[in-house]
Amino acid sequence: MVNIAIIGVGTVGCSVANILKENKELIQARAGKEIRVVKGVVRDISKKRDVEIPLTTDIDEVLNDDSIDIVVELMGGVDEPFKVVKLALEKKKAVVTANKALLAYHRYDLQEIAGDIPIGYEASVAGGIPIINALKVGLSANEITSIRGIMNGTSNYMLTKMINDGVKYDDILKEAQELGYAEADPTFDVGGFDAAHKLLILASIAYGIDAKPEDILIEGIQNINQDDISFAGEFGYSIKLLGIAKKINSNIELRVHPVLIKQTQMIAKIDGVMNGISVIGDKVGETLYYGPGAGGDATASAVVSDIIEIVRAGKSSPMLGFKKPFKSENLVLQNKENIQSQYYFRMSVEDVSGVLASIAKTLGDNNISVDTFLQKVIENSSIATLQFSTHECKEIDVKKAISQIEKFDFVKDGVSMIRIEA
Ligand code: NAP
Ligand code: HSE
Repeated sequence: MVNIAIIGVGTVGCSVANILKENKELIQARAGKEIRVVKGVVRDISKKRDVEIPLTTDIDEVLNDDSIDIVVELMGGVDEPFKVVKLALEKKKAVVTANKALLAYHRYDLQEIAGDIPIGYEASVAGGIPIINALKVGLSANEITSIRGIMNGTSNYMLTKMINDGVKYDDILKEAQELGYAEADPTFDVGGFDAAHKLLILASIAYGIDAKPEDILIEGIQNINQDDISFAGEFGYSIKLLGIAKKINSNIELRVHPVLIKQTQMIAKIDGVMNGISVIGDKVGETLYYGPGAGGDATASAVVSDIIEIVRAGKSSPMLGFKKPFKSENLVLQNKENIQSQYYFRMSVEDVSGVLASIAKTLGDNNISVDTFLQKVIENSSIATLQFSTHECKEIDVKKAISQIEKFDFVKDGVSMIRIEA
């Protein structure tokens, strides 16, 4: 018999308890032992929840109980779960977590503290898709050339509804929250931070690189509007929030931002709450992983798989997949300004002569060459919306051009920019 406690019995925690109950016999056969949830920890014990396990508000009841073998951390946050997980590991309890924010900041600390004590975190990236296992085990023979994918279900759900049904941003965010997809603070989803946390976890397994969210380029979907969506449609693009990790010689480029991506590409076809991640290995070539990226049961499926593996094997492989420090070459994080891409710009301007010439000159002065251009005059006003796409150019030049264009008096409300992913 293996005893587990679930710290945080919310969307995912309830699903974990219920899967362990509903699939009990199957899970016992796979794990080789009976798995029993002996305690759940919550903040508000009076809240009604669809679960039949003993609840407490006192985390110490779990940490000080020697009969508990595995602590499942599903409370969210960074500092408090770090304290809790650290204490659990110090008490020699195995840990399973779905908490990517915690891992984005403390994965190397936890690896150090854990030593040989298992830590499972399959659910932390892409919900139900076993992408951690794929990188740690299935692709471990390969040097990873790139990882590129949709890693946030909430924003993909929102973009899909905005593009396909013209639904308003605020309405669809509310719906994603009601469906249990969004983080407690949904700015993590729409601002790209949640996808960045996941990208950093994958990059550590792929490259052994210890970057923090503040070290990488992160942009969200908050500024995307129906003008961008119709421009994208007109030129055969979809809009997706992507996490991108690329190895370029000894540089590792890590970035999260919305992209215009050709509708014919596989990733462009991944809609709704689904996530999709392409991993290219030097020996295997491209592999693609697709599945539900958020939601109680899908995420709990990955949490329970970690529990089963810990019970079955009694140990785990090294947390981030490396048994020895990875020193075969000096990989460094690529400077954000060295990114090269094609770009799309949108801006509202006064519809007067000379405006276009000034903008074109600024772009040209900054080595930016225009590919396509669209102008729409807003009915009964003197304002026009200008939309450009560019040939490949440097991020540093784009940033300079935008700041110069935004200084023109005829430009209203700044310049919106989306990168175009080839
Ligand atoms: P949730 O529904 O907000 O549940 C959080 C639970 O933790 C609640 O039961 C809450 O108690 C409890 N809790 C929070 N702080 C606590 C504290 N200080 N002491 C005791 N209990 C505390 O969140 P969730 O959606 O299940 O997400 C849980 C974790 O999984 C997060 O790290 C999230 O990022 C991750 N995750 C979620 C999904 C998803 O689709 N939802 C997918 C992948 C990963 P009360 O109920 O009493 O408030
Ligand atoms: N809020 C996250 C998402 C949950 O929407 O992808 C899954 O990690």
